[in-house]
Amino acid sequence: MIITPPRKINASVRPIYDATRPKLYIETYGCQMNVNDSEIVASIMQDAGYSLTSELAEANLVLINTCSVRDNAEQRVLGRLDCFVQEKKRRPALSVGIIGCMAERLKEKLLENKFVDLVAGPDAYRQLPLLLEKVETGQKGINVLLARDEMYADISPLRLDRTGVTAFVSITRGCNNVCTFCVVPFTRGGERGRNPETILNEVRELKDNGYREIALLGQNVDSYTGGGMNFAALLSAVAEAAPDMRIRFSTSHPKDMTDEVLASMARHDNICPCIHLPVQSGSSAVLQRMNRKYSREDYLQRIETIRRILPDCAISTDIIAGFCGETHRDHLDTLSLMEEVRFDFAYMFKYSERPDTKAARLFRDDVPDGEKTARLTEIIELQGKLSMESHIKEIGKTVEVLAEDVSKRSDKDLCGRTPQNKMTVFPREEAEIGDIVRVRIKECSQATLKGAIANYE
Ligand code: SAH
Ligand code: SF4
Ligand code: F3S
Repeated sequence: MIITPPRKINASVRPIYDATRPKLYIETYGCQMNVNDSEIVASIMQDAGYSLTSELAEANLVLINTCSVRDNAEQRVLGRLDCFVQEKKRRPALSVGIIGCMAERLKEKLLENKFVDLVAGPDAYRQLPLLLEKVETGQKGINVLLARDEMYADISPLRLDRTGVTAFVSITRGCNNVCTFCVVPFTRGGERGRNPETILNEVRELKDNGYREIALLGQNVDSYTGGGMNFAALLSAVAEAAPDMRIRFSTSHPKDMTDEVLASMARHDNICPCIHLPVQSGSSAVLQRMNRKYSREDYLQRIETIRRILPDCAISTDIIAGFCGETHRDHLDTLSLMEEVRFDFAYMFKYSERPDTKAARLFRDDVPDGEKTARLTEIIELQGKLSMESHIKEIGKTVEVLAEDVSKRSDKDLCGRTPQNKMTVFPREEAEIGDIVRVRIKECSQATLKGAIANYE
């Protein structure tokens, strides 16, 4: 059963391809905020006379929007940079720019590579056209100033997603916490909240352009304040401005998430019952060294409250294995917390020391790499079991799925997510991308649910 009317698609938020203009190719690494930032950059560059392309071969300018959160994220970018350098050796007129978190962290060091023309940090994107003018005269362009008031609130991001169904809306930039392992406050600066009117306008614009789902983004959405509103009030206002759209948000911080946010979720059917609440570790001693400002008990208390107010809510998390000083007992505490909470989903990482962070200055990265890997493997295996259990519970239920795309495996199937964020695949029948359909779940794996549209079984 398809329960939404067909989408009216208006393409005013999409890039316009113009063969006569110079071409920009953007590649994005890192978190959803970076994906949204690339859309802001695309908007600034289109206004400056560029046209977006997905073909590197026709690009005049390549921008790599980068991530510094773990060393392997940076290594991937540097590997990819090599490919662009090869392309530039073949076509010396190609300009290559590094933007985003690595640009902010490494600054002019990146210009030591003579093939890199431009470096711009996350708060310098308005300057890109000016920096490029410099590059055109044969100089290098760099701006890595962090600006306490830059929100890009007046810039309408050019949406670069493939299907026009779900869009990101950033509500804060930067972060005011000092988790000792984390590089983000260095690469993105202090936290600032965006004016709620500009957020609501962007939501309305997306609604008018046929989007069906919005994800509100911030490093710590719960500490949002803007125009006298806190996050709970903003969430309600967004849900009411777009009652036919699904609303999601991330990331929530266990120390800041209020009951008022949970109440706002409970009051609005269109806010998806799903919370990403990174725990990082199940050991209070480790959490203290991480400066997360909550204990294992505080976290479990938060989970209990969520379950009481929102019994159907899915809960996902982030976990770091092998932080400084983590003992085997601490690791067992993480496993037991996972069992206790029964997370629906988790992102799991080995601790990676980041230069200049408090952890790098104060503690020794003393868990041997082999031990980190062994602990991470146990965490991943346990989460696999928990994800499977969470999926098995869905079998036999009929759930509402927002069709986001055709399935990677077969173009006869669509895929999309349930309100609880579970990826679901089903034969497309008469459904279109962008429809919300009722799907009866028949089978599952750790990663996906499989079913059929109700009425077509
Ligand atoms: N603002 C979010 C997290 C942003 S970074 C929050 O506070 O939860 C996303 C995730 O990357 C973090 O939750 C953490 O699990 C992981 N991460 C961050 N720094 C890391 C590091 N130095 N090593 C390994 N994982 C890290
Ligand atoms: Fe990093 Fe902590 Fe801020 Fe998240 S809350 S971005 S982990 S400093
Ligand atoms: Fe990476 Fe920067 Fe996001 S470090 S996770 S791209 S905020």
